[in-house]
Amino acid sequence: MGKRTVKVGLLGLGTVGSGVVKILQMNGEQVTRRAGAKIEVKRILVRDMERPRAVEVNPQLLTTNPDDLLHDPDIDVIVETIGGVDRAHKYIEEALHHKKFVITANKDLMATAGDDLLLLAQKQGLNIYYEASVGGGIPLIRPLKHSLGGNRITRILGIINGTTNYILTRMSLENMDFNTALAEAQAKGFAEQDPASDLEGKDAAYKLCILSRLAFNSRVRFKDIYIQGIEGLSKRDVFYAGELGYAIKLLAIGEELQGGLVLRVHPTLIPLTHPLASVLNENNALFVVGDAVGEVMFYGPGAGSLPTGSSIVADLIDVARNINRQVENSIIENNFQEKRIVSMDELSSAFYLRLQARDKPGVFASLATAFGGEQVSLDMIIQKRSVQGMAEIVLVTHKVEEKNFNSALRSIQRSPAINKINSVFRVIEK
Ligand code: HSE
Repeated sequence: MGKRTVKVGLLGLGTVGSGVVKILQMNGEQVTRRAGAKIEVKRILVRDMERPRAVEVNPQLLTTNPDDLLHDPDIDVIVETIGGVDRAHKYIEEALHHKKFVITANKDLMATAGDDLLLLAQKQGLNIYYEASVGGGIPLIRPLKHSLGGNRITRILGIINGTTNYILTRMSLENMDFNTALAEAQAKGFAEQDPASDLEGKDAAYKLCILSRLAFNSRVRFKDIYIQGIEGLSKRDVFYAGELGYAIKLLAIGEELQGGLVLRVHPTLIPLTHPLASVLNENNALFVVGDAVGEVMFYGPGAGSLPTGSSIVADLIDVARNINRQVENSIIENNFQEKRIVSMDELSSAFYLRLQARDKPGVFASLATAFGGEQVSLDMIIQKRSVQGMAEIVLVTHKVEEKNFNSALRSIQRSPAINKINSVFRVIEK
């Protein structure tokens, strides 16, 4: 006879934690039927007992002492929604030592310490579930782990940060400036406590790290990922991109090439006709290319209280089934291989470049010489009428070797005719 009630210790009652409680209140009966057991939140760790909450909870469940959850033998599973790395790491280790299953929404932690934690879980005969760590409410971990398990996956490509996608959408559709759009994203609860992680591309890189491990069965580390963020991205770039037929999106791309894995997060110009160009606001989307299935796209809300809660409740259902029937407890992550990481210099890309040049004879010629000398071929050029003797030039190159482009860029930077290189982004056509 299995357990009739699976007891949960919830760490945190912020955006994500309150989403979990709300879903259990809304859909409790259905969840019980699916899980084969009632799922009951027994204790909730909070920092401040008095703070107003987005959800109604019995105040007696709240505590500020983590031991009330981690040391309670009656609690079967710890759900970690506090974010950050150090405290969450400590609590999860402790939970596993105390024989509790773990569910976490913490991508930073899973990306940086997931390997060790999963090994510990295996030793303890337990498991860690982390569907909520990537893509909010979109199922991505399970499909990569299970549903697409028969494929050799060659590429994953997508928008996996809601905050930056929200900002880029508002800048492009509402002509809004960067800071106003960021403030809106923060007010809506998409941004991390410190939005730098979103803006610098780290949040997306943590998620790419987690997804690439599963997609490529590989021990990817966070430092293997090339990262360029969207801080300081100007409205002018969004405008020019539109004029040239592109949208700017912060893309996360993982590919398995002959030479190894290429893993990168960077702002990218993609054609307005590309399906990812119509992924707006906080929505996320991921393309997965597998040798058997072809191309699959996952799309939906990538952040927010109920969507992220939805992924956690699904994990709770799996934990309950697992506890009662001992199914679905394989930790495939511990069998991953080491694969070579390909450096960006070895890649070929097309580039978008915006620069300020003095409006005088020979400037275009010097640009052409710098590019021509490095075999960089130009695809499109825009020059608007100059203001106070300074012309703004925007150009897009054909696909070129990145090392050649960088060396052309260095010689342009040295040229006295060029006042400033404002922005450099990669362009992809598909
Ligand atoms: N800060 C994250 C984002 C939240 O904007 O996508 C979800 O992980």
